[in-house]
Amino acid sequence: MDMRLRDLSIRAKVLVTGLGALLFVLGVGALASFRYWEREQFALTAEHAVLAARALRPGIEGALAHGQVGAARRQLDALVARPPAAGYRVVLNDGRVLVASRRPEEGLPRSGTPLPDPWDIPTDGLTLRGRGESAASVVVPLAGVGGGRATLELLLDTRRINAAIRRGRSFGLALTTVLGIAYAVVLGLMLEREIMAPLWQLKAGLARASAGEAGVRVGLERKDEFGRLGASVDALLAKEERSQQLAVTRGRALAEQAGFAQVGALAAQIGHEIKRPLAGIQSAIELISQEYAMSDGERGLLTRVEDQLQQVDRTVRDLLSLAKPVGLNAQPAHLSSIVDAALVRVSGTPGADHVTVIRGYDPADPELVVDSGRLEQAVTNLVGNAIEAMPEGGVLRVTTRPAEGGQELVVADTGVGIPPKNIDQIMKPFFSTKPHGTGLGLALVARIVEAHGGRLWVESQVGRGTTFHVILPPTPPASQGATP
Ligand SMILES: Nc1ncnc2c1ncn2[C@@H]1O[C@H](COP(=O)(O)OP(=O)(O)O)[C@@H](O)[C@H]1O
Ligand SMILES: [Mg+2]
Repeated sequence: MDMRLRDLSIRAKVLVTGLGALLFVLGVGALASFRYWEREQFALTAEHAVLAARALRPGIEGALAHGQVGAARRQLDALVARPPAAGYRVVLNDGRVLVASRRPEEGLPRSGTPLPDPWDIPTDGLTLRGRGESAASVVVPLAGVGGGRATLELLLDTRRINAAIRRGRSFGLALTTVLGIAYAVVLGLMLEREIMAPLWQLKAGLARASAGEAGVRVGLERKDEFGRLGASVDALLAKEERSQQLAVTRGRALAEQAGFAQVGALAAQIGHEIKRPLAGIQSAIELISQEYAMSDGERGLLTRVEDQLQQVDRTVRDLLSLAKPVGLNAQPAHLSSIVDAALVRVSGTPGADHVTVIRGYDPADPELVVDSGRLEQAVTNLVGNAIEAMPEGGVLRVTTRPAEGGQELVVADTGVGIPPKNIDQIMKPFFSTKPHGTGLGLALVARIVEAHGGRLWVESQVGRGTTFHVILPPTPPASQGATP
C-alpha cells in the first residue's frame, strides 16, 4: 500500500497535526513541571526537617548544657521518628560524638538518586547540605554545648524526599495531560469550524446544484481562502445557470410583449400586396424555363431566382399566418400522428439525413382537441429549427408524455444551442441568427400554442443542445372553442 501524506483527507491531516502539537506541548509541559517539582518538593521536604530541628534546638541545647543526654536523646528520637529525618548525632569540636541515634545510617539506602545540585538552603544559621547520593544532612550549630562548638547533624532520608518528588511528578503529568486534552479539544473544535464546516457547506451546495436545483449558492460569507473559493464557485454556478437559463413564455404575454397587434395588421396588408405579384413572377419563371432553351449558366441563374422567390414566398406565408387571428379548427386528434406528419414534412429538408430521429411517444397517447393543421405547422417549425441547429448531424429526440395540465411535447436536439443573450429574443418575430431566416417560426409556434391555451418554454446550453417544451391542455380554452 502506497499511502502518501497528501492522499490523506484534510480531517486526517488536521488530526495528525493536532496530535503532534499535543505531544509537543505535553512533552515540554511535563519536562518543565518535572524540573519545577523536583526543586520545589526537595526544598519543601528538606526545609520541613530544618524547621523541625530549629524548633527543637533550644530544648536540646538546654538539655545538653545541663548534661541531660537522655532528655536530648528522647527529643531527637521523637524528631527522627517522623520522615524525612532518619538519624542524628551531636558532634563536638574535637570529633567526639556526644549523642547519636542508635543506628544513624539505618534505613538509608547505600546509593540512590543523586540530589539536585546545588541544593544548599541556608535557613538563618542552619545549613542543609547534600551528602553523597542517598542522604542529606542538616547541620545545626548548638550554643552552650561543649564550649559552644558542638553541632547537631540531622540525617534526612532522600528516599522519602524522592517519593515526594515522584508524587509531584505524577501530579505535574496529570495536570499537563488534562491541559493538553483541553487544548486538543479546543483546537479540534476550532479546526472543525474553520476547515471542515466550510468544506461541508461547499460540498452540499455543489451536490444540490448538480442535482439540478436552481438558484443554489454556496454563500460562504468569509474573508479567508474558503470565502474566496466559495465566491468563485458561486460565480461559476451563476454562469452555469445563465447558460442554462429557461426562457419561459406563455403565449399571450409573449404576443403582447412582441407588439403583435401592430405587426400583425401591417404584415397582413403587405402580405396581401406581395402575394399576387409574387405568384405572377413565379409562373413567369416557370414559363421561361419551359419555353426557352437555356445554357447551364442561365438555368443556374434562374434556379437562384426561384430559390430567392421561394424564400420571399415562405416569409409572406409565415407573415400571413402570424397575422391571421388564430381561429382554431379544433378536432380530436392524437399528438403522435401530428408529430409524425411534421417529421415527414421536414424529412426532405437539407441536413435532415444527417440527423438521427428518436421518437418516444406516450403509449397512452390520449386524444386532444386541437387544430391538427396549425399544430403540425408549429411542430414542423420546432423540428425544422432543431435540424438547422445540427448542420454536422446529431440526435433529434421527440417525446410526448403526460404532464400537469395536459400532454407534453418535448423536442430536444444536440445542436449548437442558444446563447443566453438571445434566449429572450428568439420568440420575437423577425429575430433570426440565420442568413436566410425569417425569424417568424418561433413567433408562430408561440401564437399557435397560445391559441390552444398551452405553454411553451425552452432550455438551452451552448454547444450542448436545445430542448423545447410544449404543454397542450386536453381541450382548448372556451374562447377558442371548436370553430368549424
Ligand atoms: N433548436 C434550436 N437550436 C438553436 N437555435 C435555435 C433553435 N430554434 C431556434 N433557434 C434560434 O432562434 C432563432 C429564431 O428561430 P425562428 O423563429 O424559427 O426563426 P428562423 O428559424 O427563421 O431563424 C433562430 O434564428 C435561432 O437562432
Ligand atoms: Mg425557424
